[in-house]
Amino acid sequence: MIATEIADHRDFLTVWDFTTEEILKILDIAFNYKKDVITKTKKPLDGKCIGLIFEKSSTRTRLSFEVGIYQLGGCAVYIRPEESHIGKGESIGDTARVLSRFFHGIVFRTFGHERVEELARYASIPVINGLTDSHHPCQAVADMFTIKEKRGSLNNIKLSYIGDGNNVANSLLEITSRLGVDITIACPTGYEPDKAILEKVMSVGNNSIEIIHNPFQAVKNADVIYTDVWVSMGDKTDGKKKKEAFKDFQVNEALLSNANEDVLVLHCLPAHRGEEITDDVIDGPKSAVFDQAENRLHTQKAILEMLIK
Ligand code: CP
Ligand code: NVA
Repeated sequence: MIATEIADHRDFLTVWDFTTEEILKILDIAFNYKKDVITKTKKPLDGKCIGLIFEKSSTRTRLSFEVGIYQLGGCAVYIRPEESHIGKGESIGDTARVLSRFFHGIVFRTFGHERVEELARYASIPVINGLTDSHHPCQAVADMFTIKEKRGSLNNIKLSYIGDGNNVANSLLEITSRLGVDITIACPTGYEPDKAILEKVMSVGNNSIEIIHNPFQAVKNADVIYTDVWVSMGDKTDGKKKKEAFKDFQVNEALLSNANEDVLVLHCLPAHRGEEITDDVIDGPKSAVFDQAENRLHTQKAILEMLIK
């Protein structure tokens, strides 16, 4: 019998795995963790072990999970994919079945989204998506947390994402749709977010969703400007050609001068300074990117608390 047939656990593979109310609850739990009112008395992962498998590089996601798991009383075990059998000497399904006997949860960063789905299908413990080629849901939770923290509320917020229609853009589309945050995406023609995701958010969201090709138009009246690298990990398109296509989509002072004076600048990091964002913007007064990075820790803890029973 496979794990999904007995479905006694929940995964976080995409934003859709949590309802609007659950995402808001995660944000509240994370605010408490940030204030440190819970960790002093509460250790929801006491005696529990979480396995982390990262098939792509990571600084923030891996380390925020490792530190967060430790702070919640649990133990994090990092599994180096090149030293384990996953996906090479052993099927993802068999790896999932075995890890389910040792761990209470798995965080998986990989390439195709179907790989994390396969792991989750055969695991009988929660699987958390630590980034795939098409989704980065944990990042999106931290991003909403950061906006709420800086703006006081997610009501009447317009987020303008300037850049590639990648995993980060897809998850932002999904979470803004869940939370009613207006979103504009400005990208060169041909680099739009995933078509199926766009169709879904357009049909279910009660927010405003725009896909346009003019970054200056996109930042007008924006409360938040967000960007990400032009060439993601595992992106097999011609990087040189792509950078050429994106050259007018840099988040720089000229672009910011068209935005509101109090606009907030976000970037999931790592940044390719001088490409999608300039030093003066990322290091400037409107940038909250390092608070955003810190918030990965608080929100990972809330996600773990929601899922690991
Ligand atoms: N933002 C983010 O996921 O960063 P890492 O690749 O360092 O984990
Ligand atoms: N879009 C980027 C995000 C990194 C956190 C990538 O997938 O490489």
